[in-house]
This record gives sequence, structure tokens and C-alpha cells, in this order.
Amino acid sequence: MLNALQTIKEQAAQALAQTGDPKLLDELRVKYLGKKGELTAILKQMGKLSAEERPKVGAFANEVRASIEALIDEKAASIKAEMQSKKLEAEKLDVTMPGKAAPIGKPHPLTKVLDEVKEIFLGMGFSIAEGPEVELDYYNFEALNIPKDHPARDTQDTFYISDNVLLRTQTSPVQIRTMENQKPPIHIIAPGRVYRSDAVDATHSPLFHQIEGLVVDKGVTMADLKGTLELFVKRLYGEESVVRFRPHHFPFTEPSAELDVQCFACKGEGCRLCKGEGWIEILGCGMVHPKVLSICGIDPEEYSGFAFGMGLERIVMRRYNISDMRLFFENDVRFLNQF
Ligand code: DAH
Repeated sequence: MLNALQTIKEQAAQALAQTGDPKLLDELRVKYLGKKGELTAILKQMGKLSAEERPKVGAFANEVRASIEALIDEKAASIKAEMQSKKLEAEKLDVTMPGKAAPIGKPHPLTKVLDEVKEIFLGMGFSIAEGPEVELDYYNFEALNIPKDHPARDTQDTFYISDNVLLRTQTSPVQIRTMENQKPPIHIIAPGRVYRSDAVDATHSPLFHQIEGLVVDKGVTMADLKGTLELFVKRLYGEESVVRFRPHHFPFTEPSAELDVQCFACKGEGCRLCKGEGWIEILGCGMVHPKVLSICGIDPEEYSGFAFGMGLERIVMRRYNISDMRLFFENDVRFLNQF
């Protein structure tokens, strides 16, 4: 019987050494130590033993049981530890790994240049004014000395909400709104969206942007207009820029002019960029018409002023040599990424 116990002890030790599976471990526990297990089976035969042998066998049986229990516990602990470390391995997170980069956007070229224009005028003491894009006929035309039958309306056909309400064709109505609400001295620029019912092509869009400017004070002259705008052009396009003022007509200014910049590419010779002109038109300007001042309740005998208006798209196209205005609105990132 002692031999049988010894065999059980050895077989159990061998089987336990070979297992690494918690389910198998349970089966072995039942096989050796369970109620119907091999050890129990032997112990049941103890009755047949002599009084002398019994305590010896009993003691050894206890020893075998204890040793198998110890091995099982040991194995259970090592299986548990191994499973834990496998789990940790599988869940490993390397916090030093580089993250997924989210692409960072950047300002649209129109925004970028508009910001520069604003900076230049803010630096000269101007502030920024705003007006509505849905505008009254009165502010967009009438108060700017463009009555119902005026031919200037033909070039500024727009989208009408009703007979008297329209999408503004220019930022000039902000001049009127500002003068109605503010006493001179006035120094403002008013950037914003404007609309015209033009078909889309390389140089036209039913929606585009203008930047309006207005200065009203005592003793403002054409010299102030010229100095301010020449300085603006030099700040925007470079110190070496050459400008010229060419007489023009706008209903709300008198006298009126257009400002041209000498072509950067050919220095006035005439080339493809300037369409052979040698000069590139940048903006319209003039001395605020006395009638317009009066309409806004400002006495033209006491005050005078100058105004200007420029198309933002045009300025940006010149700046970056862009030939098609549609590129600004298609929002193709391959185009936008270049600025
Ligand atoms: N509003 C004019 C246009 O859209 C541009 C303009 C010309 C604005 C002369 C002015 C100005 O303020 O004085 O064609």
C-alpha cells in the first residue's frame, strides 16, 4: 500500500508538472484528491491493514495528500501569474508612440490678405465698420446719389428681395450708415461680401468681397486721399511700388479717380500680366460728394472727406498671380494649401 501511495505521489507530480491549463488542473485535483479519487480509493482499504501498519500508512497518505495539494496550489499560482502577464502583454500601451496627426487648417488666401489690409489701415488710425448684406435700395443706391433711373444701376444689377430690399452690390452703403450714426472725425474701413447678378467666369462671381474706406473731417483734401492710398499700396505691394491716379466718375464722389499700380512684371512696358497696359487698376476713390454729406446730415461747408473702394479678389489675384477667380470659391485643398 505504501508502494501504491508512492506511485500516486509520483504520477501526480509528473502530471502536474506537465499541465499549464486551469481546466486540466481541476481535473487532476478531482482525479487524485476527489471523493472518488485515487487517494481516497486507497484510504478506503485502510481497514484491511494491521494495527501496526495503519498509522504508518495513514501518516504517509497524509503526506502524499499534502504534497499533491501543495503542488496543485503552486501550479494554480503559476498559471494565474502567467495568464496575468499574458493579459498585460496583450493590453500593452506604448505611451511614447507618436500620435495620429490631425491636419491643421490655415486661413483662406482671401482672409489672409484681408487681414493684412486691415492691419495696414488699423496702423493708420482707421477702425473697422460693418453693414448688412441684405440692404435697402436707399443705402445701396439712392443715398449714394444713384437715383432709380441712373445708368450706374445697369452695371450693378443684383438680387432683389423686394422692390426696396436687395443684396448690396457694393460696400459703399456702409459709408452712409456710418455717417448717419457717427459725427466726424470719421476714419473707417468696411470689408464685406457684395453681390451682383453676374454669370460665373474667370473674373466674375455673383458673390465677391470689397473693402470700403471713408474719412470725413474738417479740411480733408485730395492730398490726404493720395497720401493715404499711396502709403497703403506701398505697405501692401512693397516700397518700390509706383502708383498713378487716373480721372474717373463715380456718382457719390467728386472729383473721382481710379488708382493704378505700375505692373510689377514689366515695370510699365506692357506685358501679358497687365494685358499690355503697363498699369493695373486697384481701386476707385474720390472726394465725398457734397450731396452725399448733406443727405447724411453733415454740413459740406464745414466738413469734407474722401472715400475709396476696392475688390478683394482682384487684389489677392494680383498678389499671388492667380488667373481664375473661381479657385477662391471651389475650396480645393490642393489650391488652398499653397498659401
Ligand atoms: N463702390 C464702387 C464700386 O463698387 C467702388 C468705389 C469707388 C467706392 C469710389 C468708393 C469710391 O468709396 O469713392 O464700383
